[in-house]
Amino acid sequence: MKSKFYNTAPLPFVGQKRNFIKHFKEELHSKVAPPLYVDLFGGSGLLSRAAKDVHPTAKVVYNDFDNYRKRLKTISKTNKILQDLRVLVDGIERKKIVPKEIKEKIINRIKQESGFIDFITLSSSLLFSMKYVSSIQELEKETLYNKVKINNYPTAKDYLDDIEVVSTDYKKVFEKYKDVENVVFLIDPPYLSTDCSTYSSDGYWKLKDYLDVLKTLQNQNYFYFTSNKSSIIELCEWISDYTGGLNPFENAAKKEYKASMNHNATYTDIMLFKWTQTTTY
Ligand SMILES: C[S@@+](CC[C@H](N)C(=O)[O-])C[C@H]1O[C@@H](n2cnc3c(N)ncnc32)[C@H](O)[C@@H]1O
Repeated sequence: MKSKFYNTAPLPFVGQKRNFIKHFKEELHSKVAPPLYVDLFGGSGLLSRAAKDVHPTAKVVYNDFDNYRKRLKTISKTNKILQDLRVLVDGIERKKIVPKEIKEKIINRIKQESGFIDFITLSSSLLFSMKYVSSIQELEKETLYNKVKINNYPTAKDYLDDIEVVSTDYKKVFEKYKDVENVVFLIDPPYLSTDCSTYSSDGYWKLKDYLDVLKTLQNQNYFYFTSNKSSIIELCEWISDYTGGLNPFENAAKKEYKASMNHNATYTDIMLFKWTQTTTY
């Protein structure tokens, strides 16, 4: 698969920006390539990939805090496991509970593997949506469902081609690049008060963590991602209107995407961007 076709991350990743990738690329296309993009909360690397594809001359730094690379390197092993699981669940209706004796066989099959096992990817084939485990012990405790992916995952060997990868706290990455002229930051932090158990950070992102990120927006070119659930835009407007504090979103452009989690729960994903392009670089 050619990298320009990655409109979705090669492996499941909670919070990947696939719903925004079209809007994001459109915006980038309307600009001259900057010298540098820095993806502070890289997650699956999807935004980094898109930035490099639209602007191949720009340097792109992807902060892979969760070691998504390791999961990418394990794709053939994951595919082999899934191939065997397909045989084991044959005859079980899709999305139905896997009977106890088959569950045992599935667990035994996974136990045959040594070294790193991509439990996040396996979870999306065996657990109810949005449920993830990180070990065989956790998986054993769960009810399994037949959601086994029908086709293999693409090997995605070129997915990170020409992208520079780092893996550290976003504050360190920001410090390193904040003074580079015309840098564009991609800022997609964990959502406020959402469960971060599939990420490497512990527990929940609290209000202070969330607000701290706003420091990276001040006087920078950026794309910032949030949702209406966080109310951060309203909060910043209020602070600016009633306390005279700075609103980092002032004059930022906005695009929205309505997403639905299930039949009766919807929310709006928001992309805010501010990018002053004075001249060609
Ligand atoms: C909403 S996701 C980013 C998704 C990404 N834009 C994509 O399209 O896949 C937020 C990411 O921030 C990471 N993260 C959490 N704490 C972090 C920290 N202190 N520094 C850098 N990244 C962090 C999470 O592990 C997660 O990968």
